[in-house]
Amino acid sequence: MSVFLCGQWGPDEAGDWLSHLRRALPEETIADSLAGVDPAGIDIAVVANPPLGSLAGLPGLRLIQSLWAGVDRLLADRSLPPQVPVARMVDPAMNAAMAETALWAVLALHRGFFAYAHQQRQGLWRPLPQRRAGEWRVAVLGLGQMGGAVAARLQAQGYAVQGWRSADGPAALPPLLAASHTVVNLLPLTPTTRGLLDARFFAAMAPGASLVNLARGAHLVEADLLAALDAGHLSHAVLDVFQAEPLPIGHAFWSHPRVTVLPHAAAQTDPRSAAAVVAANVRALRAGRPLAHQVDRGRGY
Ligand code: GLV
Repeated sequence: MSVFLCGQWGPDEAGDWLSHLRRALPEETIADSLAGVDPAGIDIAVVANPPLGSLAGLPGLRLIQSLWAGVDRLLADRSLPPQVPVARMVDPAMNAAMAETALWAVLALHRGFFAYAHQQRQGLWRPLPQRRAGEWRVAVLGLGQMGGAVAARLQAQGYAVQGWRSADGPAALPPLLAASHTVVNLLPLTPTTRGLLDARFFAAMAPGASLVNLARGAHLVEADLLAALDAGHLSHAVLDVFQAEPLPIGHAFWSHPRVTVLPHAAAQTDPRSAAAVVAANVRALRAGRPLAHQVDRGRGY
C-alpha cells in the first residue's frame, strides 16, 4: 500500500514536500501523481488544498491527512469518501508562527504603527497617544490550537486578553466585543461561524476598535467590513484571508488606507516539522494505534 501526496502547490512546493516526507517515512512508497500508479494500492492521502474530486476513486483509502490546519475546504468536497478518517495538521511550529503574526498585528494596532505608516505616506508628523499593553483589551475568538497559542503569546506580552469560543454561546459575544480594542479571529470555519463577522458584529464592536482576521475569508462579510471602516466606526483591519484568494486585482482592500493585506501567510505549514507530524499518523495507522488530531466531520474541525 502507498501514500498519495496531492495538493495545489506553488513552484517547487510539491517537490519539497515529497523530499521531506520521503525522509520522514523511508519505509513508505510516496507518489505525488497517479500516473502509472494503481489507485487501489493507495491507502493514505496526504493533502494540501487538493482540487475537488481528487480523492474520489481511491477504493483502498484509510486515512486523509491534511497538511493544512483548517479542513473546511477539504470537508466541503462532496466526493470525499465519508467513512475515511480525516486528520488535520497540528504543528507547534505553525502555532508559533500564528502567534507571531497576531502579536505583530496587535502590537502595530495598539501602538499606532499602521497609522504612522499611513501618516508617512502623507508626510504627516503627528505623535499619537501612547497606551500601555495592559490597557489594550484584546478578544481572541477561537481558543483551539492556534487561538490558544495566540492568546498565551498576547497575554505574555502584557495585553489584557479575553477569549471566546462558539461553545460559550452567542450571548457572551456582544459584551466582549464592546469591551475590546482589538478582535482577533481564529475560529474554525463551520456553518455557525460562517459570516459571523458581519454588520451586526461590527456594530457591537467599540467605536475605533480594530479587527484581525487570521482564520478564513468566509467568516467575514467583506462589504460590511468596508462599510464599518468607511463610516469611521472601525479604525483598521488586518486581513490574511479572503472570500476569493488570491485577493482579486482591483479589490477595495488592496488600496484601502485602513486595511492591511497579507497573502494568506499568517502561519504556513513548515515541511521541516510537519513531515514528522504526518509520519507519526502514518505509523499510527499502520500499527493500528489511534490517530492524532482526527477531525470530527460532523462538527467540521
Ligand atoms: C491555513 O490556512 C491552514 O489551514 O493551514
